[in-house]
Amino acid sequence: MRKRIFLSIIWVALPCILILFVALIYMFYDGTEGNELVAYLAVAITIVAAVTLLVLIIANYTARKMTDKITASLENIGFKERNTAIYDEMMPFAGRIDRQKQNIRARIEELTDRTDTIETITGSMQEGLILIDSDGTILSANNSAHQIFGENIENKNVVHICRDDDFINAVNKCIAGENEEMQIQRDERVYTVFFSPVYTNGHTSENNKNNTRGVVILFHDATERHRAEKQRREFTANVSHELKTPLTTITALSEMIAQGMARQDDIREFAGRITEQSGRLLVLIDDIIRLSEFDEGKARREVTIFDLWELAETVIKTFRDNAGSVEILLTGERFDISANNRMIDELLYNLIDNGVKYNNENGKVTVELTRVENGLCKISVSDTGIGIKEEHHPHVFERFYRAEKSRSKKTGGTGLGLSIVKHITEYYNGTLELESAEGVGTTVKCYLRYM
Ligand SMILES: Nc1ncnc2c1ncn2[C@@H]1O[C@H](COP(=O)(O)OP(=O)(O)O)[C@@H](O)[C@H]1O
Ligand SMILES: [Mg+2]
Repeated sequence: MRKRIFLSIIWVALPCILILFVALIYMFYDGTEGNELVAYLAVAITIVAAVTLLVLIIANYTARKMTDKITASLENIGFKERNTAIYDEMMPFAGRIDRQKQNIRARIEELTDRTDTIETITGSMQEGLILIDSDGTILSANNSAHQIFGENIENKNVVHICRDDDFINAVNKCIAGENEEMQIQRDERVYTVFFSPVYTNGHTSENNKNNTRGVVILFHDATERHRAEKQRREFTANVSHELKTPLTTITALSEMIAQGMARQDDIREFAGRITEQSGRLLVLIDDIIRLSEFDEGKARREVTIFDLWELAETVIKTFRDNAGSVEILLTGERFDISANNRMIDELLYNLIDNGVKYNNENGKVTVELTRVENGLCKISVSDTGIGIKEEHHPHVFERFYRAEKSRSKKTGGTGLGLSIVKHITEYYNGTLELESAEGVGTTVKCYLRYM
């Protein structure tokens, strides 16, 4: 553009100079003899200059037309077929450009394919993936990372996603070449975060520690594992506490007997209490073992087809002797289920046990068996007992939780019965319903999918 303006100026300026030149000559020409020659010379120079200028203009115009034609031909070189009119002299040059164009197109396609593949893989990853440069600026993030930290985090500093000192330290250490791992908490979820340095030219050796180009950060959702670990820690603490109580009584009583501090009359009573506490210990240990089996997925899985009614009758029979004045009834329908006999036995036992234990004089426990649909049955155990206060409803299925502590302890409860019931129901992909009103009674309904 600038060149064109410059040329236009020259084209306008040159004739002007020439006209000025001629005008000046005429001004000096006064008809004297010597001056005639000067005038002729001036006219000749003007004509030569005008012709030269004309030739230049025509040459310029023709040259431009020709180059335009050539560049147009080069611009329009096709990839597959070359059907554009082109000068023969330009053919080798055009051929090379054509090949280069094809190469570039192929490379671009290959790169686009690779980016698409990487995006598809990272996009479907459950883990959050973030790539940062050595200044801590987020270069890219996958879908999961966007879900965790929000959209539009690209081009922001990594502090934007977590301001924890530990996190920032880990990023800095990783930029310095160290692999790091830590846990962070966000929106009630716990993530294990892995930091890996990215080196220049993809090297990972120790020598390249100073050439870190950036960091790959991976966020793995560890909420469930974290919860399970916490539950296990609490369980262990509770188990120790629960075992300690009867053992302390047993130790104290037996020590008194051993040291001769108990009178002859007391010994019989002490022995009775030792037997009672030992029994309590055994029940507790039995329940703990069962729950640990569930936790470790070791629960027995042998499945048999059996008559549920018959099994319920057998379980009820074990209560007849120590149910006192409480009456146990069995209603509903008789049908076969395919399940683990021992597990269903335990489920029934724990529910009926509660119905009897937390009942009143002359109370009633009703066990009802219903076939809801093919493969789904309902076991409902209701009683006319003391009931459970509403505030305890969400907790009674937790391990070691006792709504009525004194009564549960008196009746030898471990606080594990309902959590065993919950485990068994979950094992059969079932659901649990609790209806209870203080002073009225309790109903626990278990829906079990047994096929
Ligand atoms: N049928 C029921 N009636 C009243 N309270 C109940 C009943 N079933 C369970 N509970 C309450 O729920 C708590 C947890 O029950 P469970 O897990 O079986 O433990 P426990 O060994 O104490 O019976 C009990 O301590 C008791 O307070
Ligand atoms: Mg119980």
